[in-house]
Amino acid sequence: MRTPVIAGNWKMYKTIAEAVDFVTKLKPLVAAAAHCEVIVAPPFTALRAVTEAVKGSNIAVAAQDVHWDKEGAHTGDISPVMLLEAGCTHVIIGHSERRTDHGETDESVNRKVKAALARGLLPIVCVGERLAEREAGKTEEVLKRQFQGGFAGLTPEEFSRIIVAYEPVWAIGTGRTATPEMAAESHRYFRGLVRGQFGEAVAGALRILYGGSVKPDNVAGLMAQEEIDGALVGGASLKPDSFAALVNYPRA
Ligand code: 13P
Repeated sequence: MRTPVIAGNWKMYKTIAEAVDFVTKLKPLVAAAAHCEVIVAPPFTALRAVTEAVKGSNIAVAAQDVHWDKEGAHTGDISPVMLLEAGCTHVIIGHSERRTDHGETDESVNRKVKAALARGLLPIVCVGERLAEREAGKTEEVLKRQFQGGFAGLTPEEFSRIIVAYEPVWAIGTGRTATPEMAAESHRYFRGLVRGQFGEAVAGALRILYGGSVKPDNVAGLMAQEEIDGALVGGASLKPDSFAALVNYPRA
């Protein structure tokens, strides 16, 4: 039995004051949610204030990126040690917007994953194909490349601390959600890759979240799929009511 994860990726939204206001309103709305893990990922500037504001609640805090070095001459980057000090427990790695806007590769994802794990941060690693790749029938090829590159050299124990988010790029911020069946098919394929590399127990325990235009009105259908273990949500995670509705998705 895998505990679902509902995570909000705020991207480049919310000032410190807005972020604190959000979690203050969110806390009572999700306080009874024992069925899933709840994570929010504010921008770097708001991390510390948010980790303070969620203390004693069931809300965990993720950063949206991390560098692999502890410190160094890397203008604009943030180290795993800094994220831990700010109170983060999780970090999103390899989001498609980082791959597109900042040229991240499977190799940089791999270095970040290893550094995060070595410091005790739990990675939420994003994978997923672009529209042209799906239309060319290359979804599985892309997932395999991202799996082999992004998770190279990990032990089963290390991999068992990872959460994967399958985010087809064509579904992000477009209102075009993958159908629950399409998402489940990709999740099943990815879990098979994990099984081949890390064994049945690790594959069976892996949480694979779906991301891409998840909203309160489509979350139940997605979560009804055995293969879908949660959601990584952008737009619909920005309002407390909407994010709380996702956390408290209707369950059978
Ligand atoms: P949207 O939910 O806005 O489509 O964003 C998905 C996403 O990129 C989450 O990381």
